[in-house]
Amino acid sequence: MKVVEVKHPLIRHKVGLMREADISTKRFRELATEVGSLLTYEATADFETEKVTIDGWNGPIEVEKIKGKKVTVVPILRAGLGMMDGVLEHIPSAKISVVGIYRDEETLEPVPYFDKLVSNVEERVAIVVDPMLATGGSLIATIDLLKSRGCKSIKALILVAAPEGVKALEEAHPDIELYTASIDECLNENGYILPGLGDAGDKIFGTK
Ligand code: URA
Repeated sequence: MKVVEVKHPLIRHKVGLMREADISTKRFRELATEVGSLLTYEATADFETEKVTIDGWNGPIEVEKIKGKKVTVVPILRAGLGMMDGVLEHIPSAKISVVGIYRDEETLEPVPYFDKLVSNVEERVAIVVDPMLATGGSLIATIDLLKSRGCKSIKALILVAAPEGVKALEEAHPDIELYTASIDECLNENGYILPGLGDAGDKIFGTK
C-alpha cells in the first residue's frame, strides 16, 4: 500500500493547531477543510494531463487539462463531511458518494447503516475522506463496499492515523493509497488515537 505522511510545513502547523484542547468548533472545522484541501493537492499529484488548444487572448494557445479523470468524493459519515469541502475546492465537479458507518463504542466494530454511491462509481477515482484512522474498521468497510460496486481506484485522505489502523488497512487493502497529515503514536484502550485530536466528529459538529 502506498502510504504518504505529508510533511509539508503548512500541514504540520495546521494539525498542531487542531490538537489544542480548547479549540473552537469554528476553528477546528476550518482547519479540517484546509488540511483536507492540502491533502487533496498531494493525492492528485499523479493525475495525468493532456494538451488542448484554446483561444487565448493573443490567439490559439496550447494548455494542459486533467486527462479523463472523474472523481467521486466519499465522506464517511459523519466526521468525513468535515473534510469534503477541502476536496471540492480543487475538484468542484466531483460527485459525492456518501457512506454511513459508525463505530460501536463498546465492540469498536464498524456498523454500516447507509450508502448512496454515484451510479458509475466503477469509472471514477474514489477519494475517501475521514479525519481519523483509528482501528481502521470504518475505512476498511467503506473500501470493501466501494470495491464490491466495482471501484478500482481508491485514495484515502485522513487527518490523523494510528499505526494500528495503517497496518490493518494495509493488510485488508494493499492496493489503495493513503494520504495522511500525521501518523501518531498509538490507540488508547477506548480506541482513541494518542496524541490525536479527540473526537473529531464532536469537534466538527460542536456536539460536545
Ligand atoms: N475517532 C475519533 O474521532 N477520534 C479518535 O481518536 C479515534 C476515532
